[in-house]
Amino acid sequence: MVKVGIDTLSFYTSHFSLDLSVLAEKRGVDQNKYYQGLGQRKMSVATPDEDVVTMAANAALRALRRVDINSIEMLLFATETGIDQSKAAGIYVHDLLGLPERCRVIELKQACYSATLALQLALPFLRQNPDKKVLLVASDIARYGLGTPGESSQGCGAVAMVLSANPRLLALDSEYGVVTANVMDFWRPNYSDTAIVEGKYSSKLYLSMLEKTWKQYQALSGRNFEDHAHYCYHTPVPRLVEKAHAHLAKINGHDPLTDDLMHEHINYSLEYGRRIGNSYTASLYIGLASLLDLAQEDLTDKRIGFYSYGSGCVAEYFSGVVQPGYKKVLETEYHQHMLRERTALTYAEYERFYTYAYPQNGSRHDVVHFTQGRFRLSAIEDHKRIYETVS
Ligand code: HMG
Repeated sequence: MVKVGIDTLSFYTSHFSLDLSVLAEKRGVDQNKYYQGLGQRKMSVATPDEDVVTMAANAALRALRRVDINSIEMLLFATETGIDQSKAAGIYVHDLLGLPERCRVIELKQACYSATLALQLALPFLRQNPDKKVLLVASDIARYGLGTPGESSQGCGAVAMVLSANPRLLALDSEYGVVTANVMDFWRPNYSDTAIVEGKYSSKLYLSMLEKTWKQYQALSGRNFEDHAHYCYHTPVPRLVEKAHAHLAKINGHDPLTDDLMHEHINYSLEYGRRIGNSYTASLYIGLASLLDLAQEDLTDKRIGFYSYGSGCVAEYFSGVVQPGYKKVLETEYHQHMLRERTALTYAEYERFYTYAYPQNGSRHDVVHFTQGRFRLSAIEDHKRIYETVS
């Protein structure tokens, strides 16, 4: 059977970040609660002229660098930060990137899970059409509300992946474990721009769905814990991933997992997330970028386990194998430069970005230029969002 999977991968996040020690001081909390208790250092903060469209387009521009855009026949846009109830956000991205007219575009929603569905949906299409490619973008801005317990787990980012036959980065295995359950752990009604969350309950569900999906995946694939060199997890907060991995090790007879193995299995994949925060749909795949960019060893032919969790909830366990020559298509320098060069916000600047209000009456509103990205939201007029490409 022809191999299918991820051919190129890049992410984008805001050029502005808030150190969680600044938030801790303002909220009267010991900073180690965030640094150690949650394992989180910083959160990326979107500027008023950035949204899921501009972040996705910025990520995709990079992921398409080594790809013939005329081969893109489908654009799948995963998000839970929708900007419109009807029109797919991907249509703006299609336009900004000049993708071919012969192209399907759709937006997918199921909390943090939908990028994984998009990935799985693309695979049979690619097997049938090995000369075509699919652009998958996942883009989100996590907002819980100022002063709420979820605030410290906010973040933002977009990931873009070109999916293809004979991929250069990662070939996906065909077995997966998947579970759906109607639970209210995290949701956002249409009238609210912040999520409602039962934090502790959501963390329990995250762990119990991991066990269920892993067991299904293990039974179907015949693979064991030891068959995976590294693990990537959806990362709402890194500490929960550490707990999840210890749990997975335990149910597989490794109790406790040594610190060295714990580090080797998950630490590279967590590194970018510690500095970005939760990026919802993008988070799992930013974890993959983190692993591929930062692992010291050669990952060729190594199998990676993936746990995708979207509140509400749908969870899935799957795996993939890193391809020979993968280093040639990594965007390591671009990613590291972006994270290194971010501007640190004061608390007041963070709150100003956070509370920025757009008119809702159709009047013309020009958005101040903050972002250093290639694409920005420049104005809103007649209820239409107007984007521009910055030269
Ligand atoms: P919280 O109330 O901020 O934190 O909630 P806490 O009181 O549970 O403390 C966290 C840890 O810090 C504890 O350790 C404390 O002991 C420790 P633990 O008991 O967990 O091992 N701690 C300290 N450590 C060192 N020094 C100190 C100190 N003080 C305390 N001084 C929570 C944390 C994650 C629940 C919160 O941030 C939240 O509600 N976040 C949003 C929901 C969330 O992230 N849920 C995770 C699973 S659901 C999911 O992944 C889906 C999601 O991405 C959405 C989607 O699917 O779209 C969220």
